[in-house]
Amino acid sequence: MIDSQGVIFVAICVLFILTLKGLSSSNTAKKSNLIGMIGMMTAILIPLLNGLKSPGLNFIISLIAIGSGGIIGFRIAKKIDMIALPQLVAAFHSLVGLAAVCISVSVYLAPHLYKISGVNTFIPVSNAIEMALGAAIGAITFTGSIIAFGKLQGFIDNPLIFEYQHKLNLTIGLILCAVIVCFVINQAPLLLTIIILLASSLGMLLVMPIGGADMPVVVSMLNSYSGWAAAGIGFTLNNHVLIIVGALVGASGAILSSIMCKGMNRSLFNVIIGGFGNEVGTTNNSPGAPGGTIKTCGPEDASIIIKNANSVIFVPGYGMAVSQAQHAIKELADILKNEDISVKFAIHPVAGRMPGHMNVLLAEANIPYEDVMEIDEINHEFARTDVVIVLGANDITNPSAKTDPTSPIYGMPVLDVDKAKTVLFVKRSMASGYAGIDNPLFYKVNTMMVLGDAKKVCEGILQAMKMY
Ligand code: TAP
Repeated sequence: MIDSQGVIFVAICVLFILTLKGLSSSNTAKKSNLIGMIGMMTAILIPLLNGLKSPGLNFIISLIAIGSGGIIGFRIAKKIDMIALPQLVAAFHSLVGLAAVCISVSVYLAPHLYKISGVNTFIPVSNAIEMALGAAIGAITFTGSIIAFGKLQGFIDNPLIFEYQHKLNLTIGLILCAVIVCFVINQAPLLLTIIILLASSLGMLLVMPIGGADMPVVVSMLNSYSGWAAAGIGFTLNNHVLIIVGALVGASGAILSSIMCKGMNRSLFNVIIGGFGNEVGTTNNSPGAPGGTIKTCGPEDASIIIKNANSVIFVPGYGMAVSQAQHAIKELADILKNEDISVKFAIHPVAGRMPGHMNVLLAEANIPYEDVMEIDEINHEFARTDVVIVLGANDITNPSAKTDPTSPIYGMPVLDVDKAKTVLFVKRSMASGYAGIDNPLFYKVNTMMVLGDAKKVCEGILQAMKMY
């Protein structure tokens, strides 16, 4: 006989796999999100429908929890600013970690309710291992994500670095492993408490020393941990959907972290042990200092330069996200296209503050996908381009990544914007980007700095274009 619930669970897992596959391309990302939502709704509805058969107090509590959680999540997601997404993700991951800890404790306190063992009987070793690992990974994810949230939100300022930090982390990690083994053998409540306390402090200590530029990678790693914690709990609860979904989240988070590290030419190990992203670079915030002289122009002059071009490439970066300039850029691109000027958009894999950050914003402004190029597709085109408009980007264009072995971003692939005939750099000042280093491009003869907020400058260029 076919187990209908089993078939539905397989269907849910297929929906999640299709979601992940679709999210790898901007063309299918929106539809994939919808597929993921359907999968998640089904996963929530099935146990609720089962509970309807014998509704009791637990059913009502679950209904209230799911309903209020759903409403809160919906409201937050609706209101959240695009540039605040990384901290929102970190905050949500902390809840996954906390849930894993709570479920582990609850299973430990009443294993008979989860059909794991009888009242007051010894918990089977395999379940005790799952429980201890779920609690440990969950606690690391919980406190680590809270620290990540605090840093991204600006509540926690500088990376905390002190002597013997890595040795301390290693010692705590080893003690944690030893206590987990003791717990599996002994199952004393004190040992589970120690596991949670040690893992919580390890989560904090691991994220504390990590520099701001590395936080998106850390958030992605915490995402991965939360997936593994969920998978561990799935084993304890004998819930196959939770195991598969947890493993999918765990694996995709780890792959995403690795892709980000590749984009920055960093090793994942280097990011995780922390302390790398904090180097003070050769920041040069005053015009005219070591790099040489700079040329500036206003939006009106920029509009003339752009109008006289045959080809234009926009390079969006973090500043475009901050100023929300994407709609003004779309309007500008449309005007240029109407004048038979070729228009393209160049996307660096780590532009902005999260993977796909620029793609999401450009898609929001209805910029056609076919105009948006990845670094490998577009880099050879800069040399035959008349004007490159760098909008609130900095590090991703910095040629010292190719030429200066002492630079903290040395080896990171960058967009070869300096090869274009003219580069218009739109940013508010001569300040450095996230890596905290000077950009020699500002001082090149073919560079014009158009200083100002990206959106305001684009609107100024648009206004000037419409006038002439
Ligand atoms: P950044 O190098 O951070 O440069 C952004 C520039 O935008 C700044 O120099 C800033 O200069 C300018 N800006 C800020 N607000 C602006 C506004 N309202 N209008 C105009 N300009 C504004 O950004 P990027 O080039 O996108 O590079 C991304 C950086 O983040 C890289 O270092 C990358 O390694 C790091 N990172 C990214 C990720 C992902 S996944 N995206 C992950 C980890 C690390 P002013 O203050 O002078 O305006």
